[in-house]
Amino acid sequence: MEAELSLNPDIPKTQTKRLAVRISSVSKQFGKGEQAVKALQGITWDVAAQEVAMLVGPSGCGKTTLISVVAGILNADQGSVSIFGESITAMSDRYKTKYRAKNVGFVFQQYNLLPALTAAENAAVPLLIQGVPRLKAVKEASELLGQLGLGKRIHARPNQLSGGQQQRVAIARALIHKPKILVCDEPTAALDHETGMIVMKLIRELAVSDDRAVIVVTHDNRIFPMGDRVAHMDDGHIESIVDGSGRPIPAMIDIP
Ligand SMILES: Nc1ncnc2c1ncn2[C@@H]1O[C@H](COP(=O)(O)OP(=O)(O)OP(=O)(O)O)[C@@H](O)[C@H]1O
Ligand SMILES: [Mg+2]
Repeated sequence: MEAELSLNPDIPKTQTKRLAVRISSVSKQFGKGEQAVKALQGITWDVAAQEVAMLVGPSGCGKTTLISVVAGILNADQGSVSIFGESITAMSDRYKTKYRAKNVGFVFQQYNLLPALTAAENAAVPLLIQGVPRLKAVKEASELLGQLGLGKRIHARPNQLSGGQQQRVAIARALIHKPKILVCDEPTAALDHETGMIVMKLIRELAVSDDRAVIVVTHDNRIFPMGDRVAHMDDGHIESIVDGSGRPIPAMIDIP
C-alpha cells in the first residue's frame, strides 16, 4: 500500500508500509470440554513499522490474549506470529525469554509492578536485566518518569502511588529500553485526558523514531484518532480494520 503522492512539502511523499508484525491464523482456547473458551479464533492481522496500531472491542473479546501471544507471553494453539521476520511462535522458551527482555515492552492491564522496588527501580528493570549499571539505569528511569510527570515520586513504592501514577511507572518500564515492539494494554485507562495525551505522545514518538511496532489495546475513544490502524475485535475474531479516519483497510500489508 502506498499513500498518494502529495504536492504539500510538509507531508512525506511516499509512505511505503514496512511490515513489522504478522499475525497469521492465530487461535487460542482456554480450558477443555464444557468449560472451553475460544479466546482467539483464527486471527490474521499485520502491523506496520512506525505506526500506532490499536486493538479495540468489548470486554472478554480476546484483546489481552492476542497481545500476550504477540509478545510471546502466551503460546498460541495454532497459527504464527512473526516480528520483523522472526517467528516468535517458533522460538524455544529459553531464546524467547532472552528475546523478550531485549526487544519487547509490555504495559500490563494490571501494571504488575514489583512492590519492593521504588518507582525508578521498577522502571529501570529492563535496563538492569540487560546489564546496564544500576546508577545509570535508575538515572535514566528517573528522567523518563520526570517526562511522565512523576519526577517527585521516583522514590515511592507502588503501594504509595495512585493508580494513574502506577500506570505511568508501568509505561516507563515498557519504554525505557526502546523495545522493537511495544504492546500496551489499556495504557490510558487510569489517566486524565491531559496525562493520557502525554503518554500517547511518548508512545507515538517511540513508534516513529525507528522501525518499531506499537500495539495499543484501548477502550478510550479519546485516543482512537492517534491510531494509524485500528482493529475491531469481537468474540475472538477481528471484525474490521480501519485507518485513523475510519476508512476500511486490508488485514495484510503488501510486501514489496
Ligand atoms: N487464563 C485464562 N483461563 C481461562 N479463560 C481465560 C483466561 N484468560 C482469559 N480467558 C478468557 O478468554 C476470553 C478473552 O479474555 P481476554 O482477557 O483476552 O479479554 P479482553 O478483551 O482483554 O477483555 P477486557 O477488555 O475485559 O480486558 C474471556 O472470555 C476470558 O474469560
Ligand atoms: Mg484485557
